[in-house]
Amino acid sequence: MIILRTVDDVRLYVSEQKGRNASIGLVPTMGALHAGHISLVEQAVKDNDVVIASVFVNPTQFNNPDDLATYPRKEEDDFRLLSEAGASAVFAPSVEEIYPGGVEAQAKHEFDLGRAAEVMEGKYRPGHFQGVAQIVSLLFRIVTPDRAYFGEKDFQQIAVIRNMVKSEGIKVEIIACPIKRADDGLALSSRNALLTPEQRMLAPEIHSALKESVEYSKAHSVQATHDSVVERIDALPEMSVEYFEIVDARTLEKIDEWEESPWVVGCITVYCGKVRLIDNIAYRLPN
Ligand code: PAF
Repeated sequence: MIILRTVDDVRLYVSEQKGRNASIGLVPTMGALHAGHISLVEQAVKDNDVVIASVFVNPTQFNNPDDLATYPRKEEDDFRLLSEAGASAVFAPSVEEIYPGGVEAQAKHEFDLGRAAEVMEGKYRPGHFQGVAQIVSLLFRIVTPDRAYFGEKDFQQIAVIRNMVKSEGIKVEIIACPIKRADDGLALSSRNALLTPEQRMLAPEIHSALKESVEYSKAHSVQATHDSVVERIDALPEMSVEYFEIVDARTLEKIDEWEESPWVVGCITVYCGKVRLIDNIAYRLPN
C-alpha cells in the first residue's frame, strides 16, 4: 500500500491509475479505524480496481474543541489495517496540506446541503455538516473517485453528502454500507475507545433499547415508542439522550404516525459520560 501525503502525490497516482483505465473507490475516514471502516474498504475492494482510503481528522467539522483534541489518532495501526484489507493507497495529509495557511484562511463557501443538514446533528452541532461537506468535496475533487463509501451509522451524513454531491455537480456514486456492531450490539465507532470500562459495559444498552423498540412500535404510537427508548436510556447511570428522532428516512423530517412513510428510521445521540455516541434503527423498510 502506497502512503500519499500531498495533494500533488494523490493527483499523480490517480492520473496513473486512470491512464490504465482503473476504476477508483474512495473510503474517507478520520482514522482510529475499526471493523466498520474495514468493511467499507472491503466493499470498495470488491467494487473497484483501486481503493484509496483517506485518514484525516478534519478540524472544520468539529464544533467542540475538546472533541477535536481528544479524537483518537492511531496512524501506524490504521495503515496496517488498511493494507491488510487490500487498500491500494492511503492519503494521510497534514492540516496545512489541506488548509494552506490555516483553516481561517480558506475562502468561505456555503454549501447548499438542503433541509437534511438542518435537523438532528445539524441542530445540535452547528457548522458540522458544512465542515463535512468542505472536506468530502475537496477529497472528491482531488481523488475524482468513481465510488465513495460511507457507513450507515452516520445515516444523516450520507443524506447530506448526497445533497452536497448534487448541488456541487460532482460525479461520484455514493455507496452506503451497513452498520458494524460489536458482539454485544454497540455500533462500532472510533469514539468507543474513549469510554471507561463501566461506560463501555452500559453503552450496548443504546442498541438494545432501539432493537426492542422495533417490536414495541408494532403496537404503539410513534410518540410512545420514542418515549420508551428515551426513558430506558436516560434511566442508566452516566447516559443521557441528546436527541432521539423518529423520521422519514427519505427526508429526515419527524413523523407523527407510522403510516406517514414506508421507510422510517429512528436516529439517536447519547452522551455516555462525555463521549457522544450515535446510532440508528429502521422501524419500517420499503418493500
Ligand atoms: O464520517 C467520518 O468519519 C467523517 O465525517 C468523514 C466523512 C471522513 C469526513 O471527515
